[in-house]
Amino acid sequence: MSSNHRFCIAPMMQCTDIHDRYLFRLITKRSFLYTEMVTTGAIIHGRCLEQLNFNSEIEHPVAVQLGGSDPYDLAECAKICSNLGYDEINLNVGCPSERVQKGSFGACLMQDPELVNDCIKAMQEVVSIPITVKCRIGVNERDDVDFLNNFVSKIINPKLKTLIVHARVAILKGLTPRQNRQIPPLKYENVYQLVTEFPELEIVINGGIKDIDESIQHLDKVDGVMLGRSPYDNPMIVSNVDSRIFNDSDMGKDRKMILSQYLDYCLAQASRGQPYSSTLKHIFGLNRGLKNAKSFRRLILKTIQEKNLETTKDELISMV
Ligand SMILES: Cc1cc2nc3c(=O)[nH]c(=O)nc-3n(C[C@H](O)[C@H](O)[C@H](O)COP(=O)(O)O)c2cc1C
Repeated sequence: MSSNHRFCIAPMMQCTDIHDRYLFRLITKRSFLYTEMVTTGAIIHGRCLEQLNFNSEIEHPVAVQLGGSDPYDLAECAKICSNLGYDEINLNVGCPSERVQKGSFGACLMQDPELVNDCIKAMQEVVSIPITVKCRIGVNERDDVDFLNNFVSKIINPKLKTLIVHARVAILKGLTPRQNRQIPPLKYENVYQLVTEFPELEIVINGGIKDIDESIQHLDKVDGVMLGRSPYDNPMIVSNVDSRIFNDSDMGKDRKMILSQYLDYCLAQASRGQPYSSTLKHIFGLNRGLKNAKSFRRLILKTIQEKNLETTKDELISMV
């Protein structure tokens, strides 16, 4: 199986920014990386444009995730992102937050597959890179396979090759986004059945997958897996993705080497004015499970507060 979506790291607001993706690229070269969701409004009005930056030398394959529901705006943003060199544009049809619902995009779009279809087509017409969709299995009380199959049948077209599905419904009222990632039960079977129903699509499963062993079990049934919280909270779990998932050689770096290279990156970023809070926040979990994980986290916090990584760097490395 040659899909480069076999292992993906999920888009996560406030998490999978350019620095976090740099960290992941020190650990795995083959995982497919996703940016945080960037809204069409932010791009068109020129806000948060730095969120679109990526490191073209090391980050590929990397997708930008767009949030929006206006086909014209999405097409404009798709052109901008394609010109920047992204490998893929992913449309967010899974976010349940109230802010996003007010903008009529995210998960509520699952109730309007015709509009999703228009959005996908509008982007496909203006760029040649793949457009993909990340959705839920359903919304509110509709967690049945008929709802999901109907949604997919209305958005599918020959150029849409990949669908990423978070295996939970999105409850649009009464649950916070965080609760929406915990309370609705995971229904992996609903995602698995898409493989038979839509054999032409590459199906990537997401939600609650903890590690590489679990990923490999899912890969018996679907084309790819996407993991969010577990690699963010414990980045070293992806250190053997390249060998175990892609039959490639791992990057061969140990935790100390990765931390040392990442801290050099943080120092270089700081010299360009990037605050330590935005770079060091991604490594709180780098020695998760080790005996001094707590003191490691404390020292990172202190370093962020005192802005003195030059002084604490060696001690941090000695702790992993
Ligand atoms: C802090 C946080 C931010 C997230 N931001 C996004 C986002 O911008 N776009 C998106 O499609 N999903 C977002 N998600 C959802 C994840 O991509 C993923 O679908 C979800 O966490 C389930 O996967 P997991 O159990 O592997 O974490 C976010 C999740 C978290 C925890």
